[in-house]
Amino acid sequence: MKVKTKSPANIAFIKYWGKTNPRARVPQNNSISMCLSEMFSECEVEFRDDLKKDEINFVGEKVVKKKEIERIVEVLDRVRKLGKTKLRARVVTKNNFPKATGIASSASGMSALTLAALSSLGIKMSQRELSKLSRLASGTACRSISDGFVEWVKGENADSSYAKQLFMPDYWQICDVVAIVTKEMKKVSSTEGHALAETSPFYETRLRGMDKKIKEIKRAMKEKNFSEFGKIIEAEALSMHAVCITSVPSIIYWNKTTLTIIKKVMEWRKGGEIESYFTIDAGPSVHVICREKDSKKIAQRLRIIEGVKEVVINNPGIGVRVVST
Ligand code: DP6
Repeated sequence: MKVKTKSPANIAFIKYWGKTNPRARVPQNNSISMCLSEMFSECEVEFRDDLKKDEINFVGEKVVKKKEIERIVEVLDRVRKLGKTKLRARVVTKNNFPKATGIASSASGMSALTLAALSSLGIKMSQRELSKLSRLASGTACRSISDGFVEWVKGENADSSYAKQLFMPDYWQICDVVAIVTKEMKKVSSTEGHALAETSPFYETRLRGMDKKIKEIKRAMKEKNFSEFGKIIEAEALSMHAVCITSVPSIIYWNKTTLTIIKKVMEWRKGGEIESYFTIDAGPSVHVICREKDSKKIAQRLRIIEGVKEVVINNPGIGVRVVST
């Protein structure tokens, strides 16, 4: 059966950076994120008896690395094992935003693929199990399963590490205004970045403060205290990037437009004009988090900054879905 799925990218407010088990993608710390309403991947999978090998089509992608294909085949192999079949699959995958630029394309892509592959073999799974299976393909993919605001509980091992919903999408009217500042793929992948985290002298300090930070952000979210929430997410993004910059070798994901936006966001806030806060994943694109009422004004301001290629306003979105069979 041919199945098509759609899955959102997500933005981490508390970041996943470093793993206790790299193969099974068990993280060093819990992370908290929001699914994005406007940035997503779509994936079509069909297992067929006329194929000798898996056929994978990345729609609109000029560069496809061998590693990306291997990652997809690994997901198909896992699903084949569960479905007790040797059939090969035809896969069509596409993102509506550029990959590997600091927007979680592996999160949306791998979660969409996992659900499409399972569904095309008629395998049903709870959200928790689906989250765990998606995590094996890319850690952040486990946070694109549930709707809205999500926590990935690190767990003790591969079996106890999964993401769950904290709040529904309509719980809080905040937006992620994404400024895409490059269309080029990053040089150091997140998987490589995670592996270097422990080489930073600041990593241990970062991890030590994590439980407290998680507690504080959850309180801010519960009280819908935007200012408190914003302060935490900005400091958190800087903490992750401090680790990246001081890793050996150093990873600097930002470019000059990233820095310009960081400074602008701080200026707007200081001047009492607009209260918004930045966060940045493993890439130069900047996510400006604001109240929904300010999102259009922020988007306008971001669009005129030199180096900004595209701006997308996201509300809290829903998780992965089957869209057609
Ligand atoms: C920087 O999920 O891309 O976006 O598990 O190796 O595939 P792998 O890594 P990935 O991690 C990216 C992490 C981050 C922060 C976050 O979203 O929490």
